[in-house]
Amino acid sequence: MAKETNIKGNGMARVQDKVALVTGAAQGIGRATALLLGREGAAVAVADTNARDGEAVAEQIRAAGGKSRFWALDVSKEAEVAAVIAEVGKEFGRLDILVNNAGISGANGTSEEISEAEWDRVMNTNAKSVFLCTKHAVPLMRRSGGGSIVNLSSVYGIVGSHNVAAYHASKGAIRIMSKTDALAYAEDGIRVNSVHPGFIWTPMLEAGAQVPGVAPEAVHSAMAKLHPLGTLGEPGDVAYGILYLASDEAKFVTGCELVIDGGYTAR
Ligand SMILES: NC(=O)c1ccc[n+]([C@@H]2O[C@H](COP(=O)([O-])OP(=O)(O)OC[C@H]3O[C@@H](n4cnc5c(N)ncnc54)[C@H](O)[C@@H]3O)[C@@H](O)[C@H]2O)c1
Repeated sequence: MAKETNIKGNGMARVQDKVALVTGAAQGIGRATALLLGREGAAVAVADTNARDGEAVAEQIRAAGGKSRFWALDVSKEAEVAAVIAEVGKEFGRLDILVNNAGISGANGTSEEISEAEWDRVMNTNAKSVFLCTKHAVPLMRRSGGGSIVNLSSVYGIVGSHNVAAYHASKGAIRIMSKTDALAYAEDGIRVNSVHPGFIWTPMLEAGAQVPGVAPEAVHSAMAKLHPLGTLGEPGDVAYGILYLASDEAKFVTGCELVIDGGYTAR
């Protein structure tokens, strides 16, 4: 008879006793993910350039009875990434889950409108960071007996739009890096998947919704209408998908694209 090894009937939390590193966890989707993983039993390393809000997230997890610590980290700098991952290993003893979430939308513009510096900033923060964090997390995960890497791409990594060239390039890179890493590390028991949110109401989107001369509510409602379900997403909508991929419930899932977009890409 087939075994149902990952169906838990014992009320255990969904990522009990796992160790997770979430980048860009001071706000938005990363914050919601860190809080949810903490609530579901993981020890959470919260990493971000924003120390004030990042410390507050770690404190919130501890106040709820969980384990967490904040690390100041710029994910585009290899020396910082290597040092933080080594410290996470020392502090928590292992690494089971890496959520490569830190990202920026960067400058609006077509290829002919943006500068080389603007392109580099977006690619370094969004795509090079996935390479660096994966590179330094994999040896620790391998020593931990396997793990789950969840990379934040976007619907903008699947379909185009007219004026954020570098962002699309970075999110498309993350999509295919995830499949390549899924194949490279399958035999180590390390699963790698990408998540593709539609428009999620976070500080990133709020900043992008500042259109001179247009009321914020009008921009919000125009953005919502892009999604067949008629609303914007919330950070928790994405965090629950990440939790699934991070957990053993997804033990047969690797190289997949989890689209969480209110139907945006269904057309
Ligand atoms: N909000 C959306 O609509 C949406 C849609 C699709 C994909 N995404 C992706 O989801 C991820 C999170 O987005 P969000 O909306 O929560 O963004 P956000 O701007 O609200 O939060 C991003 C976090 O990343 C941190 N960060 C930025 N650069 C960093 C760096 N170099 N090193 C470490 N931390 C850094 C910021 O300080 C911030 O705390 C991003 O990768 C984004 O591209 C967002």
